[in-house]
Amino acid sequence: MSKITAAITAVGAYVPEDILTNKMLEEMVDTNDEWITTRTGIKERHILKDPNKGTSYLAIQAAKDILRKTNLDPKEIDLVIMATATPDMPVASTGVHVATQIGATNAFSYDLQAACSSFLYGMSTAAAYIEAGRYKKVLLIGADKMSSIIDYTDRTTCIIFGDGAGAVLMEPNTEGLGLQDEILKSDSIGRESLKIEAGGSLMPPTEETVARKLHFVQQDGKTVFKFAVSNMAGVSEQIMKRNDLSNEDVNWLVAHQANKRIIDATANRMGLNDEDKVLMNIQRYGNTTSATLPLLLSDYEKNFKKGDNLIFASFGGGFTWGAAYLKWAYNS
Ligand SMILES: CC(C)(COP(=O)(O)OP(=O)(O)OC[C@H]1O[C@@H](n2cnc3c(N)ncnc32)[C@H](O)[C@@H]1OP(=O)(O)O)[C@@H](O)C(=O)NCCC(=O)NCCS
Repeated sequence: MSKITAAITAVGAYVPEDILTNKMLEEMVDTNDEWITTRTGIKERHILKDPNKGTSYLAIQAAKDILRKTNLDPKEIDLVIMATATPDMPVASTGVHVATQIGATNAFSYDLQAACSSFLYGMSTAAAYIEAGRYKKVLLIGADKMSSIIDYTDRTTCIIFGDGAGAVLMEPNTEGLGLQDEILKSDSIGRESLKIEAGGSLMPPTEETVARKLHFVQQDGKTVFKFAVSNMAGVSEQIMKRNDLSNEDVNWLVAHQANKRIIDATANRMGLNDEDKVLMNIQRYGNTTSATLPLLLSDYEKNFKKGDNLIFASFGGGFTWGAAYLKWAYNS
């Protein structure tokens, strides 16, 4: 019997309609389009403005996009993994609500949180279930309503993040396509450099935590930048070496969209001279945390050919980071 690998067999996405441009941010904080563009590569981001809608709304739209494209009966889905750093509520699980809302009534579901690496870690989890033969149809969704945890008076964070969702269906493959290898890492050296300090068990909400804005993202941008460049580039280079992949062999770099300079540094370290291989949509969405990787897959899906070699790379708060090598499984 041939070995079972876990392949991505469909992709879906959703971003909310409202757009927050650099020009609009100029009216809100002391910043300018030129600074944001040269330091980050971001021009605009999508924002879910409706205060009555949370991350589940974004996730449901992305999942429905897959159901529409594939005509898949949601009752066939075995498991829904909801990768997110901004669940609707701390308890109950957002994924459970998403699964029920899309009609995946035979599936079980849970949330997976690893900041901006949530989707990559989720891909590993989904693949492990499939390779073991436990489940056949795993829906992995990456979604974040980052606008719900951003202080729009803080120019060091509000220029970076946006809202969005992407989803992939993962299924068994016997042609050797799908996930080939991964290197996943974490280190709490980054615990203080990128965090939401209050609202958890260590510092439950009080009037004071609200007044001190401790429920918003705080980051030491310089430190995060330094670790992101060395760690994300490091594992990307390592996974190529370990799999005897030259820069010619790599067809696409699917890197977390946190900062164009971090992505460029990773591509350089991998020797990817052809910039067409480096997927980039940060200019339109900003950093959507768990959604960046599936949003790239959705935007570039038509360019991928069956058998193409994709290298995924991510870096996030915690710190969490990693790289994965995946062979694309279909032509669209
Ligand atoms: C946040 C980030 C864009 C800042 O870029 P940078 O080149 O490191 O800029 P610095 O923080 O050194 O700031 C340079 C100057 O610009 C100022 N500045 C900061 N934000 C600004 C803004 N939005 N507009 C204008 N000026 C700004 C700073 O106050 C500083 O001024 P000073 O020199 O007078 O002190 C960059 O550090 C970064 O992308 N870090 C990683 C963040 C990230 O990816 N987080 C998510 C990880 S998944």
